[in-house]
Order: sequence, then C-alpha cells, then structure tokens
Amino acid sequence: MVNFRYLVTSALPYVNSRPHLGHLIGSLLPPDIYTRYLSLQGHEVIYICGTDEHGTATELAAEKAGVTPEKWCEEYHALHKVDYEWFDIEFTNFGRTSSPSNHELTQYIFKKNYDAGNVFEQEVEQLYCDKCKRFLPDRYVKGLCPKCGEETNADQCDSCGKLQEPKELKEPKCVVCGGGAVLRTSKHLFLDLPKFAPELKEWLGTKKFWAPNVLNWAVSLVGDLKPRCITRDLKWGVKVPLKGYEDKILYVWFDAPVAYIAITKDAPGETGKHWHDWWTAEDVRLVHFLGKDNIPFHTIIFPAMLMGTKEFILPYNVVGAEYLNYEGRKFSKSRGVGVTLEDCQSLPFTASQWRYALIQMAPETHDSDFTWEQFQKSVNELADVVGNFVHRTLVLNKKYFDGVPEHGEWTAKDKELIEKIKAAPASVAEELEKAHLREALKRAVALVRDGNAYLNEQEPWKNEAVRANTLYLSLAVCRSASILLEPFIPGDAKKIRALLGEKELRWEDAAEITVNGPLGESKPLFTKLDGVKDYEERFGGKKEEVSYVKYEDFKKMDLRIAEVKSAERVEKSDKLYKVVLDVGELGERTVMAGLAENYAPKALQGKKVLYLANLEPKKLRGVESQGMILAAGPDWQVLVPDKDAKPGSVIE
Ligand code: 2FM
Ligand code: ZN
Repeated sequence: MVNFRYLVTSALPYVNSRPHLGHLIGSLLPPDIYTRYLSLQGHEVIYICGTDEHGTATELAAEKAGVTPEKWCEEYHALHKVDYEWFDIEFTNFGRTSSPSNHELTQYIFKKNYDAGNVFEQEVEQLYCDKCKRFLPDRYVKGLCPKCGEETNADQCDSCGKLQEPKELKEPKCVVCGGGAVLRTSKHLFLDLPKFAPELKEWLGTKKFWAPNVLNWAVSLVGDLKPRCITRDLKWGVKVPLKGYEDKILYVWFDAPVAYIAITKDAPGETGKHWHDWWTAEDVRLVHFLGKDNIPFHTIIFPAMLMGTKEFILPYNVVGAEYLNYEGRKFSKSRGVGVTLEDCQSLPFTASQWRYALIQMAPETHDSDFTWEQFQKSVNELADVVGNFVHRTLVLNKKYFDGVPEHGEWTAKDKELIEKIKAAPASVAEELEKAHLREALKRAVALVRDGNAYLNEQEPWKNEAVRANTLYLSLAVCRSASILLEPFIPGDAKKIRALLGEKELRWEDAAEITVNGPLGESKPLFTKLDGVKDYEERFGGKKEEVSYVKYEDFKKMDLRIAEVKSAERVEKSDKLYKVVLDVGELGERTVMAGLAENYAPKALQGKKVLYLANLEPKKLRGVESQGMILAAGPDWQVLVPDKDAKPGSVIE
C-alpha cells in the first residue's frame, strides 16, 4: 500500500481586512485539523497558506488609506499571520501571492499554457477614461440608463431594474475623476476552457467520493464551459509576459492558486528544497479547503491551468465549506456585526475554546450560525466533559495511589470500556478522512463520556476492590483522548498528555490500554462561561432605528391571497420570473418577481401566496409589474397561508 504524502492548502485569504470567525471556520481551521490528524497517522504532510494580495479590491483599499498597495499588503499580511498563530493554526509556510517566486511561477504557468495553444487573444470593446489614461473595470463606471434615463452603475439600474451592458450606458463617466469615458477596443487574453472539457470531465469522473456540494457544481460547470478572460487593466498584479500587454496584468484568480506552488517553494528547509517533487510526484495527494464560492476556481479553472502545463499534479480532493452566519445575519465589518479574530484575542477565552466551539457550529453541509448561546454550551461542555474527567481522574488517583496504579484482572465492565477505547481511533479517523470534523469531534468526545459514565458507575471512591482497575482505565481514556482530541484542541491535548507523562504519541497509540506516567499535578484545564448577554450586545452591531408605521398607513395596503397560475423565466435575468396570479375578485395579475434563484417554475405553480395588490405598478423589462409577492429572506421563500385560503381573500 502506498503511504501517501499530503499537500493540504487553505484558500488564501484576501488582505482587504482582518479575518473573522467565518473565515476561520470556512477555510483555515478545518485544514489545520486535517493536517494534524494526518501527521498523527504518520503521513508526511505540509499545510500551505498565505495572503491573496493582488487585484482591484486591494488597490482600492490601499488608495483609500493613502498608502501603496505594497505597504498595505505588508501590513495586513503580518496581521493575518498574528491572527492565525493565536488560534494555533500551524502552517508549513504562510506566504504571499505578491512574492517574486509567485510572479515567476505564474508567468511560467501562463507561458506553458500559451505555448500549448490554450490561450487566445481577442479584441474587447471597453470603456476608457482619457483623463486617467486607463480602461475602466465595471465598478469604475457610472452613466445614464439607456432604458429609463436615470443615473445607474454599470451593473443594474436601481430605478427600472435593467441589467446593464457597460458599453450601452448613456454619458458614461469615470467614477474616479468624473470625466467622460469613451469606448475603445483593447486586446485581452482568454484561457480556452472548452478545450479542457473532455479532460476535466474524465478527471471529475474519478471523483465520486467528493462531497456532493462540490462535485455537483463542478460537473454542472463542465457541461457549459466558456473561455475565461485572464487579463485585466490594472497595475497591481503579475505582468503578462507578452509583447503588447505592458499595461495589463494577469487576472488575480490566475495568480492566486499558483501561489500554492510558490509558497511551497518558499517554505523553509526540506519542503522548499523539494517543492517540485511535492507538486509533481504521484504519491502526493493535493487537498484544497475553501469556502463554497471558491469551488469553480479549484475544480475547473486551476485544474485546467495545471493540466495545460502537463507538469503538475491535480487536486485529489476539494473540500468546500458552506457559510457561517452570525446570529442569523451576515458578518459585516461596516455594521459592526460579528467577531473578528482580532476581537477574539481580547476576550477571556482560549484558542482551544474557540476551536472546540467553532467545530460544533461548522457549516459543513449547509450554512450554519454562530450564536453566543451555542458558544456558551460548547465552552461549558469542554469544561464539564473533557476538563472535568481528566481533572477528576488525576485527583482521585492521587488520593489513593502514588503514581500509576497496578491493575489486576479485567472485569466484564472493564472489558466493555477497553473495547470502546480500542474502537475509538478508527471510528474518529473514519470521519476525519472525509473531513467531517463535527462528527469526528463528537466521536472523540464520546469516548470521554464513556469514560465518565464508567467512572461514575464503578465508584472507586467507595469500592476499593475496583479502585485500581477503574483509575487505571480512566487514565487510559485520558491518554487516548489526548491523541484523538489533538487535531481539534492541540494546545490542551498536549497539556493532558504532559500530565500523563507522555510526549509524542501517534494515532494508533490511542487504541492501546497503557498508562506510562509519571503523572503530573492536575489543575482544572478549562474555565466555564456563565452568561453571554454582554457579548451578544457588544458584537451585535448597531441597532437599526425603529420607524413606526401608523395603523391608517398599514390599512392602505391591499394584501391578498393569490394563486400562482404560471411562472416563466425572463430573458437575460437569473433572478426574475414573470408570474401570472389569480387574485379572485381582482382577476388576473402579472408580477415580476425575483424568485428564479430559489424556485423552479413548476414549484411555484399552484402555490397560494401572500400578495400586495395595490403597490404602484412599475415597468420591469418591458412588462408592467402589478403588485408584489411577499417573500422572506435571506433565501427568499414565498409566504403561504397556514390553511387553504381562497384566491382574493383579504389579509389583515
Ligand atoms: O475568496 C477568497 O478569499 C480568495 N482570496 C481565495 C483565493 S484561493 C486561491 F488562492 F486560489
Ligand atoms: Zn477618469
């Protein structure tokens, strides 16, 4: 059997701001746990991460702060590093996409693809600002809507809803200098993704073991690939190594994943020396961890870029986390909602407490919520179950024995627990292999719970006959748990091991019934948490001012039950449906509703929905929208009556 080596990566965090808990649990903590586990299993493993520094967002943030992008990135790189170290995230190397080695490797990978005919040139019409002497990316343009004439951005008109084509805007202006923008053609480079479709398809065909959220998305993308523009009119990035492209850079998403390779190359010691082997050898399994929005880049674009080189290995697995929300809302720095990693460092909790709690709230299969209530539960569970068992075992043992007790013949009760100890490492490993961290942690803690139940049942403080065996086995559970919990709470797991007189242990040692000692002096490991109200208030953001509505005003709304007759897609819109409603005595109504992302047309048909009949009609996409269907965010589900209600019924 091949003893695989593992090359684990975390999506490289942007340097636009300090990371928050969502970033930590989305892409940084899971690979740290996975890496620690693999290394306990005896695999050679490296963990690569760094800051993602190029692109418009960084340029804009630096400009706003009045510093150069270089200066901005240097500062934020250092801050990110401090944040992750505080949480015991242990990288083999934490690098930067702006490093010389990444510029070099990105150009190398670009060239290889270019020479292989995987990149082609195409003229693109774009808005250009004569005063700033630059082409304008979409977020740099404003103008008048060609449809309703109101001022609009280059994305979508706020007044009439039209999705804009930037070059169709009337009187387009540069948002930086306010000067008029003109249309100019400019050459860009495109990665010919359709060319890779057969190879990508075949490769994805070997990935049946991937999580469905990742595999399904990748497979659906492969069926409909379009060439991807990989050049941008910006300055802060990797230069395009081609004549005629002196004013352009490579797209950030082209250089960022290449940095995984460059950061390996820049790693200290043996890793850096053998970087090429790490990225080309067949016994290496490359595993990417990332948030779900990064899935297309890691399952399609980066693999295609790598395939194009015919040199580097492809990902073995891609683990995509869903999103963590904060108390039912989105994390928002500007609104002060949520906890940043910087905040955590000034609160009275340890890295282990955060790690333990975050794993229990991890958005593994669907979006999840960080709540202080759950945080309190987790922190107290860690103290009551893990901390308390270890402390109690050691204190009791000290009371009756001088060092490790000598056990006698195992009884039936002892044997039951012994079986559980023996089975635990494989059971936890089964989940860790699949990066199911929540379940893995639950299984590791289950062993401690079993130990606790056994200790309570045996009552060694009363029953001298069972005392030595009971305390010996309880100590053995502590030893096993110190290994099984190490990936999750490395700092405290090591403390537990030190209390048992152990140093380096491997995963397989957790199945042994052994206590070596010498035993140390136990103190409670974890503190408990009484209340969380203060924290809820402190990190809950500014309370929105309530603005009251008079009853007379509420009464002006004609709210009705309506039945959906049909829903059909609106051309060029991912969101809108044209919905025809039956509103009983009010007759049929047509409404333009933004429900297309969450409902198939058939799923809406026949539904009774809540409907505002007297909203001022408005033309959207050339259709008069008569009223509004009510829906609840954030995923916009329509509201339906509890019991069957007749179309046209009045809602009060
Ligand atoms: O979405 C993000 O946060 C990106 N900065 C991730 C980049 S991952 C990579 F480097 F490929
Ligand atoms: Zn301008």
